[in-house]
Amino acid sequence: MKAIRIYQTGGADVLQYEDVEKPTPGNGQVLVKVAAASVNFADTMVRRGTYPFMPPLPAIPGLECSGLVEAVGDEVTRVRPGQPVALLGEKCYAQYVLADAASVTPLPEGLDLDEAAAVIVNYATAYHMLHTMAQVQPGQTILVHAAAGGVGTAVIQLAKEAGAKVIGLTSSREKVAYTVQQGIDYIINYRTDDVVKRIMEITYNRGVDLVLNSVAGDTFARDLEVLAPFGNLIWFGFAAGPPEGNLAEQLATHFGKSVGIRTFVIYTVAQSAPDLMAQSLERLFAHLADKKIRPHVHERMPLSEAARAHELLESGAVMGKLILKP
Ligand SMILES: NC(=O)c1ccc[n+]([C@@H]2O[C@H](COP(=O)([O-])OP(=O)(O)OC[C@H]3O[C@@H](n4cnc5c(N)ncnc54)[C@H](OP(=O)(O)O)[C@@H]3O)[C@@H](O)[C@H]2O)c1
Repeated sequence: MKAIRIYQTGGADVLQYEDVEKPTPGNGQVLVKVAAASVNFADTMVRRGTYPFMPPLPAIPGLECSGLVEAVGDEVTRVRPGQPVALLGEKCYAQYVLADAASVTPLPEGLDLDEAAAVIVNYATAYHMLHTMAQVQPGQTILVHAAAGGVGTAVIQLAKEAGAKVIGLTSSREKVAYTVQQGIDYIINYRTDDVVKRIMEITYNRGVDLVLNSVAGDTFARDLEVLAPFGNLIWFGFAAGPPEGNLAEQLATHFGKSVGIRTFVIYTVAQSAPDLMAQSLERLFAHLADKKIRPHVHERMPLSEAARAHELLESGAVMGKLILKP
């Protein structure tokens, strides 16, 4: 079968499209014929060697995909050959992928498999930050960084469904227009606008109840400034690199507001609360079938063009999700 493999970390040219052996399912395993493999920002970090949870090299990247069950190993009763599924796993940049049966979610018949591939990481991340972590309430105000991205799109749709007001940050006119189409309440271009001033105007000087920050870099000081009393900042990514400055000092400046900073990783849910993960995915795929959520596929590309996909995602030009087709 064909797959993308990396032998060393580096630029997009380390992604090699090559022949690898097709795996066979063992006990409790499922072999899936991949229909759509998602491109996540985390894949670009693995490729660069900056991901906190690096796989051993050589490695086939890819954390999630959708497809049809090709074969099952002994003792697998959860799915049967021919069934459409999505999975959170590893080595998904390939024509076939092997997964533990427990990490495979059966899909309702008739779903668009490209859209299904875009749900697990982005929508489950948005869902668990909003509901499991923040227990967001109708009427609350949320600030989301990278609002036009894959997770950003999911946050807009799920936060609106929960009755919250969403303020987004992004970097271009095109992305501003995209987030408005997605139903965002307010969108701020952080390259051209005074972010703190705009947020305080929008919230009548109260600030926001929740910040969802996937960027880090120099952004925490500003986030803490716009947090309302009792507000929380959830930090879930490093798009602009590790946090800069002295976090304890930044927190001390806003000590009187009783605010919190928390981290979030979707694997905590998948590994420490698998039942909760399974319930949320069932709910999200039912929402997809009912068209209550609509993942946006920015572009579908052949698997062989994984390098172009990474360059595009790292350039910041992607709205929604990139999908690789084996
Ligand atoms: N913790 C978790 O479980 C989890 C799960 C999923 C994703 N994530 C994280 O969430 C983030 C979003 O993931 P995604 O796959 O949906 O990607 P994405 O948001 O579609 O792409 C990254 C976006 O980050 C913004 N950005 C800001 N500073 C940047 C910089 N210096 N370099 C590149 N991009 C920058 C850009 O949007 P603007 O131009 O609008 O600023 C860019 O489009 C990533 O950081 C990812 O690692 C974490």
